[in-house]
Amino acid sequence: MNRLSTRTGIGVEDVRRTFVEYFEERGHRTVTGSTLLPPPGDPVLFTTSGMHPLTPYLEGRPHPLGRRLVNVQRCLRTTDLDEVGDLTHLTVFEMLGTWSLGDYELPQSIEWGYRLLTEGFGVDPGRLHTTVFGGDERSGPDTGSLETWRRLGVPVELTVDDNWWSGGPTGPCGPDSEMFLWTGDTEPRSTPTGDDRWVEVWNHVSMRYRTRPDGTLEPLPRRNVDTGLGLERLTTLLQGRTSVFDCDVFTPWRRHLPLLWGDLDETSTRLVTDHLRSSLVVLGDGVRPSSTGRGYVLRRIVRRVLTTLWRDDPTRELVDLPGELIEHTRDHFRQDTDPGLVRDVLLDEERRFRRLLDVGRKVLDRPRFRGPLTEDDLRHLHDTHGLPRDLVQNLRGEPAPSTPQTPTPQMR
Ligand code: SER
Repeated sequence: MNRLSTRTGIGVEDVRRTFVEYFEERGHRTVTGSTLLPPPGDPVLFTTSGMHPLTPYLEGRPHPLGRRLVNVQRCLRTTDLDEVGDLTHLTVFEMLGTWSLGDYELPQSIEWGYRLLTEGFGVDPGRLHTTVFGGDERSGPDTGSLETWRRLGVPVELTVDDNWWSGGPTGPCGPDSEMFLWTGDTEPRSTPTGDDRWVEVWNHVSMRYRTRPDGTLEPLPRRNVDTGLGLERLTTLLQGRTSVFDCDVFTPWRRHLPLLWGDLDETSTRLVTDHLRSSLVVLGDGVRPSSTGRGYVLRRIVRRVLTTLWRDDPTRELVDLPGELIEHTRDHFRQDTDPGLVRDVLLDEERRFRRLLDVGRKVLDRPRFRGPLTEDDLRHLHDTHGLPRDLVQNLRGEPAPSTPQTPTPQMR
């Protein structure tokens, strides 16, 4: 890739610090990022974005730190689990975010965003493109953003649905403007919707409506701005890499895993790296593997690691996981995990899964279970032999169901 930025040698910690300081200098107070666990009563299992813990404040509650906020928030998304292994998807990642709670509006946010990317991070302005909400029956076109981008000399593409942000069927929402960086080897061409070498880096949302349960919109008490930027993705681009796994966040993993399980192919190495690191962060936030809720998500992630490792070598073991990887993850996420405890939990889970697989293979080898399985068969396998549906599908080489973001029924 051609150079996107004039800054050389920038590391993930520089990116984080530069971002936070830039907004602190402009009157923002730093909110300490919360853990991956949303507050009790939240219907979602894990924090999924920087704005997630701030939802009550975006809906009108005064924030104790004032009306300009910045933070770095760890997030977990299981919606993309099947994409992990490609160049960009991570299960646990960090989001840089800024908020104006009824203070400044989108044009100011855009101007700061542009200046931070170009002057702060040295991004070549010729490699920027943006998209802006073009207007529909919900809300008129976002002329303030359009004029700001034109004044800054950045090309704009108008869209409708791609520039309307909402976190779900109800709750805060509004028009947004997304910033894209050109990652191609040629001069920039086309537009963000026309060429996927335009990679989205930063979303600036004018969060000024709430969707009611009946689908209609009502104005929020204040017009807010909510912005979010993936730390690992920006770092990867600034470091001139195409794979997020090649940015410095993953340096120790890149060093250790080939020594440990050197014959894993690249896609599997990425999956194992992502899922093991995500498991460490989830464990560090106090979750333990279990049959429901968050613990079940953790169990699914660990089992996906083991399934990948054992696919071509069943002797691979988590006991070999280097302490440096546990400590590096703990320090990066500023957790106080006990590495010994984490290792014990992982080994316990590994033993449990191995036992279950042994049982599963024997049971599924019986003539009754060789053909297509009925709902009764699946229930019997679960209730009598402790074999959850996803494991049965896995052992039979069938696609596994997706991992939920919201609470799940009981699974072993
Ligand atoms: N809410 C927006 C997003 O998640 C910006 O933070 O992309």
